Amino acid sequence: MIAIIPAAGKGTRFAPVTKVVPKEMLPFGAKPAIQVIAEEAVAAGAREIAIVISPEKELVRRYFEQVDVGVPVRFAYQLEQKGLGHAVACAGRPEEPAFVLLGDAVVTGPNPCVEMAAVSRAHGGAGVIGLKRVPRERVSRYGVAALDADGRVVDLVEKPSPEDAPGDAAISGRYLLGPSVFGYLADQAPGKGGEIQLTDAIRRMLGEHPVYGCVYSGARQDIGDPEGYFKALEAYHGRG
Ligand code: UTP
Repeated sequence: MIAIIPAAGKGTRFAPVTKVVPKEMLPFGAKPAIQVIAEEAVAAGAREIAIVISPEKELVRRYFEQVDVGVPVRFAYQLEQKGLGHAVACAGRPEEPAFVLLGDAVVTGPNPCVEMAAVSRAHGGAGVIGLKRVPRERVSRYGVAALDADGRVVDLVEKPSPEDAPGDAAISGRYLLGPSVFGYLADQAPGKGGEIQLTDAIRRMLGEHPVYGCVYSGARQDIGDPEGYFKALEAYHGRG
């Protein structure tokens, strides 16, 4: 397995600091968030990390040239911010399953990638989406998975209203996907917000390639805005 960390987004919700400092470089103790995330993937068995950045975010590359996370780290560029699905496709086409870990989602508590790899193994190497249950009134902020009794994903709905949501299992910053997803990403049309969405490509593959949900036990921290980062620091340092 490899791990892809998309970290090329503009970080507008965390401006102005993100004009110069990528949000993925914000510190947790003495490590930037993206190193905490990379180490999570390595602990779950990733043998290589591919980080997707933009030319404005060379700081991330300079950082990883100076630290060792135990596996090779390579960089790919997303020159236009066309969305998460596009960023993942920019990492190239791996021939093995890939964890995808959002560069602005730190998980505190048990390692979600370890739990997701176990779910994949239990289902013959199927794809897995990391999920967290959220209060019904907040589902409209997330992609929501509809699951059958066996935990298989039968549908994905991007930012549904609470009435239309197929449940309360929100897509939460972690994926484990087989190489076939890259075929769907290659011709994925823009969706919500005019962006090429990873959710849309996974939705198209559901019929042919099984994908299971894994409600992981850690807590997903979204460091994409100052309030989320503050909460994440409290949780990370055990004061939350
Ligand atoms: P977000 O949508 O949270 O990040 O994407 P963003 O676009 O930087 O946020 P705002 O809205 O401008 O504040 C989740 C992850 O996907 C990456 C981001 O860097 C982040 O780690 N991403 C997003 C890309 O790499 N490329 C994109 O085109 C979009």
